[in-house]
Amino acid sequence: MAKDFKRSYKFAVKTSLYLTLFMGFISALLLIFAGVFSWVLLFAFVISCFVFSFLIIQYRVEFFIYKKIKKIYQNVSILSAVPLKPGQVSTDMNTLSQEVEKFVEGKKLEIETLKIRDSYRKEFMGNISHELKTPLFTVQGYILTLLDGAMKDKKVRKQYLNRAAKGVERLIYIVKDMDMISKLETGELNLKFEKFDIVEVVQGVFDLLEMKAAKKNITLVFDTEYEPVWVKADKERIQQVLTNLIVNSIKYGKKDGTTEVTIEELSQKKVIIRVSDNGEGIEKKHLPRLFERFYRVDKSGSRKEGGSGLGLSIVKHLIEAHEEKIFIESSFGIGSEFSFTLEKAEKPRGITDSPEGA
Ligand SMILES: Nc1ncnc2c1ncn2[C@@H]1O[C@H](COP(=O)(O)OP(=O)(O)OP(=O)(O)O)[C@@H](O)[C@H]1O
Ligand SMILES: [Mg+2]
Repeated sequence: MAKDFKRSYKFAVKTSLYLTLFMGFISALLLIFAGVFSWVLLFAFVISCFVFSFLIIQYRVEFFIYKKIKKIYQNVSILSAVPLKPGQVSTDMNTLSQEVEKFVEGKKLEIETLKIRDSYRKEFMGNISHELKTPLFTVQGYILTLLDGAMKDKKVRKQYLNRAAKGVERLIYIVKDMDMISKLETGELNLKFEKFDIVEVVQGVFDLLEMKAAKKNITLVFDTEYEPVWVKADKERIQQVLTNLIVNSIKYGKKDGTTEVTIEELSQKKVIIRVSDNGEGIEKKHLPRLFERFYRVDKSGSRKEGGSGLGLSIVKHLIEAHEEKIFIESSFGIGSEFSFTLEKAEKPRGITDSPEGA
């Protein structure tokens, strides 16, 4: 808005012309009646009348519009008040209304964004309370039953206390996840970059999740045998990314299925790590929202898996904190592939065959 408007003199010229015509006509009559009519006199009067009225009108109009428009701006634009100088305002109403329209469009967009954000916030609050409510009520239920007399039975007491402890564990898990997301969003979580062998980290995650996978007879494998692949990243966080992705591939994988990890060179500076499964797959319509906090494809069905829909949101935040990219490809009923990039690193000096990291 702070640009110079096109100056227009049309209004002042036209109005001065009308005035001059009228005044010229009246003064001609007066001169005739007074008996002193002279063309020179009339011409001088007409010219001075035109010049004088033009200057007054032009100045007054500019001043008037400047005052009015400034007031409108002050009223409308609370967020981006742009100080107007008299020189920036003109009598060219077209330019002015175009500028105001542009301004209104901008405000409309801003309001839309705020509305979307507000509904997202409401949905988010609802999700949090829902996720916390379920385990809280479970814990409360067991404790109240115990207090009501169930604690007298030694066997029931142990069983209920164990279940209550599981509920508390679940609560801690959700709160920890939320804490990590908010730290990532506010930029509080500092990454500790180091050089490490990504193959070794993947193997470590495979080992940790072996039991979980065995329950569904899912095999965790590399697509081929790998030499160490050195990358520069926060080892602990990348381990978490891999854990979340591989746990998902088990949770949403088919019985007797396979989760395969591939490590490829993407460019001179990057490697890409792919985690693919032959599980249930994800319908296309869910893909754009999959990385949102609390977003789950099957809100009821897979609830028995105990997920709260935070896993992928954390994955995305962690990868983005590394300034890397994450991709997803999925065919419903066939399987899914999550892949992310990492920065390559030189093999650290002094490391020979089987490295322990940097
Ligand atoms: N490999 C996969 N195959 C099929 N669906 C998947 C896969 N990974 C994720 N999804 C879908 O994406 C949704 C979101 O995943 P996310 O990891 O964020 O949450 P979650 O696994 O439900 O819970 P959490 O990870 O917080 O315990 C899941 O509910 C699931 O429906
Ligand atoms: Mg998950």
